[in-house]
Amino acid sequence: MDLQNLLDDIVGAVQPLARQGAAADYIPSLASVDTSQFGISVATREGEVFSAGDADVAFSIQSISKVYALALVLARDGNSIWKRVFREPSGNPFNSLVQLEHEDGIPRNPFINAGALVVADRLLTVTGGSTTAVRELLREESGNFSIDSDPEVAASEARNSHRNTSLAHFLASYGNLENSVDDVLDAYIKQCALAMSCTDLALASRFLATNGLRADGTPLLSPPQTKRINAVMLTCGTYDAAGEFAYRVGLPGKSGVGGGIIAVVPNNCSICVWSPALGRSGNSVAGVAALDEFTTRTGWSIF
Ligand code: DON
Repeated sequence: MDLQNLLDDIVGAVQPLARQGAAADYIPSLASVDTSQFGISVATREGEVFSAGDADVAFSIQSISKVYALALVLARDGNSIWKRVFREPSGNPFNSLVQLEHEDGIPRNPFINAGALVVADRLLTVTGGSTTAVRELLREESGNFSIDSDPEVAASEARNSHRNTSLAHFLASYGNLENSVDDVLDAYIKQCALAMSCTDLALASRFLATNGLRADGTPLLSPPQTKRINAVMLTCGTYDAAGEFAYRVGLPGKSGVGGGIIAVVPNNCSICVWSPALGRSGNSVAGVAALDEFTTRTGWSIF
């Protein structure tokens, strides 16, 4: 498989779609990003990287961060998080409030905002209050130690976080937060505001394609834990579009409203695509099309 050639072809095929949809504007600082950009990177399980397009432009990883927070909680704290968050697809938008009340304060899965707030809360507890655990993991796995949270994006989200604040208070009212609402929101917003490129994210996600092994060869997760994160990504990683994503791409994937999507070919490679304009469910239109093209051309879907 000539991956470089394939990625160059995908850029050519997908670039015209890059302006379809719209950049997220409920976090105002994301709305000003140039939507014509598109990048793609693939990191093989051996650590080789292939990239094309705007693969080295840093963007806001947003909900993609939820995967690494969950991995850290499972790695450091085992399965107890599953008493506080379910792992079923929600069929609802990522920031929906209604389901949380119907289900007595237990979020449907760790990737909708309510579930990710519970995971961020537990991560704060197990790290003794650190808000940089996700950043440190991503720095170490990508080898890029300049990765950081963008303070402007974080401030922009903090000023416009009425929904997440409501979700966090709701969780607290059901006794499903261990830390204060303010501390949980602060940690969550900082992890979402991490700025990374496709190359950084493909490398940082490699442990999901290596049965949980980190870049230095030590285990972050056991093979069964890795299998389970990939399964939750497949069923819940693209929210109410997870069925369509499985149909078109056929890989575990996780999107963010910055326009990035990571995807995993287990035992083979990790992929990151990025283009800022989003469809109705908050997933990058050109990004999904690129992953569709990638698995169609390589045959590397899990199905
Ligand atoms: O909490 C939020 O709404 C954002 N910080 C993250 C949402 C997100 O990325 C959803 N993904 N497509």
